[in-house]
Amino acid sequence: MAVVEIKVPDIGDFKDVAVIEVLVKPGDAVAVDQSLITVESDKASMEIPSSHAGVVREVKVKLGDKVSEGSVIALLEVADDAAAAAPASPAQGPATAPAAAPAVVAPAPAPAAVAPAATPTAPVATSVTPVPVAAQVEPHEPTRPPVGLPHASPAVRKFARELGVPLAEVRGSGPKGRITIEDVQAFTRAVMLGQQQTEAQKARIPAAPAAGGDGAALGLLPWPKVDFARFGPIERQELPRIKRISGANLMRNAVMIPAVTNHDDADVTELEAFRQQLNREHERDGVKVTMLAFLIKACVAALQKFPEFNSSLDVEGGGEALILKRYWHIGFATDTPNGLVVPVLKDADRKGVLQIARETAELARKARDGKLGPADMSGATFTISSLGGIGGRYFTPIINAPEVAILGVCKARWEPVWDGKAFVPRLMLPLSLTWDHRVIDGAAAARFNAYLGQLLADFRRILL
Ligand code: COA
Repeated sequence: MAVVEIKVPDIGDFKDVAVIEVLVKPGDAVAVDQSLITVESDKASMEIPSSHAGVVREVKVKLGDKVSEGSVIALLEVADDAAAAAPASPAQGPATAPAAAPAVVAPAPAPAAVAPAATPTAPVATSVTPVPVAAQVEPHEPTRPPVGLPHASPAVRKFARELGVPLAEVRGSGPKGRITIEDVQAFTRAVMLGQQQTEAQKARIPAAPAAGGDGAALGLLPWPKVDFARFGPIERQELPRIKRISGANLMRNAVMIPAVTNHDDADVTELEAFRQQLNREHERDGVKVTMLAFLIKACVAALQKFPEFNSSLDVEGGGEALILKRYWHIGFATDTPNGLVVPVLKDADRKGVLQIARETAELARKARDGKLGPADMSGATFTISSLGGIGGRYFTPIINAPEVAILGVCKARWEPVWDGKAFVPRLMLPLSLTWDHRVIDGAAAARFNAYLGQLLADFRRILL
């Protein structure tokens, strides 16, 4: 056994490029040409494969490190004859990439004997051949194990990485099997349902998007590193799958949307009395009419009056147009033991409150049982996040891109309200409307909330 030092070779324009993926860890067996790290410049990403087969003794780089030609990536334990031999001219590397000949400096200890850390075996200098991502085109064929790297642009690869999506397992729908952003999104939805998840995928879902290294790309300070155990006892708990996936989505939406939240109150005194009356009448039908069902109905009416709230920015067309949707599918955030999911009630404009109550109850039950299908969670044009059954006053919900607005609702409570002559007790429902300022103006948002409030205060107005 010998130890070779795997270095970054001449990678052309790639200088001081960030390591965005470390694909191996100590103890991993790697094959020749197996990717060790991915580096990314502002223009493209590139995987750096191993020139040798062996076992990783030590990884010398970490996420966020900047590497250039000659930077040591890892120490690899290899068979003596492999260390002595220069790697063959790589088939996949670009013409500019040299195949450096490694030289054995000293033998590594036999595998059974663990070398003390203080006296490491001198490593052998060697080099690897970078594999530009775009050069490794291998259309995805789902009926056989993935071979080589998937065909996707750097932007799609970055997006997939943020979501923890293994591109090698995504079917590309673009020309020649090219993977698109939509393919990655569809895969994520399926994974959320637990339909395609493997242990390997679980491992690749980013653990903490909030603490990710991408802050550097935004010119932000590095995430604070604190040894919490210095201050008291701690316990580490893995995030559930849904949280890991939705975290990446929330992060993107929070960072990329110039969002503003308007708070308002709706007087639901009469509506609540009506709801309770309906529930008494329909007790035997097994339908429970919820505030959520009324909210969905009222929101549809407000979305029809203010159509830009039921739209999406045409981002692919440069963000210069709005796509107004002539259907009203309402997503509603649902708290489940595994995290937040958003089932979608389709065609809410064509349904009455009783039917909406029945269908949302069924969707919420499916969500909690983990049985939502992709169709149950797609196509929303607007989302409601109701914490009314739990409590709270106001909050600032994050828009569910590519939608442009979301309504947060908290618990209604009795308040003294001035009616012009006296304070009277009224049941007031707190509303928090978050909207995308690229699409909606503050005045429109205030009007939307005011109109919604009028509808909830007197539901007959919906007929007008
Ligand atoms: N004000 C006062 N009471 C309210 C209310 C409100 N805004 N909304 C609901 N309630 C009451 C209901 O009437 C019900 O009381 P009852 O049993 O006496 O009739 C109770 O709270 C429980 O309601 P809930 O189970 O929440 O039903 P719902 O239909 O209103 O809501 C969901 C359904 C799916 C939205 C809800 O169960 C849920 O998961 N909410 C959490 C959403 C979330 O986590 N959002 C955060 C995203 S950041």
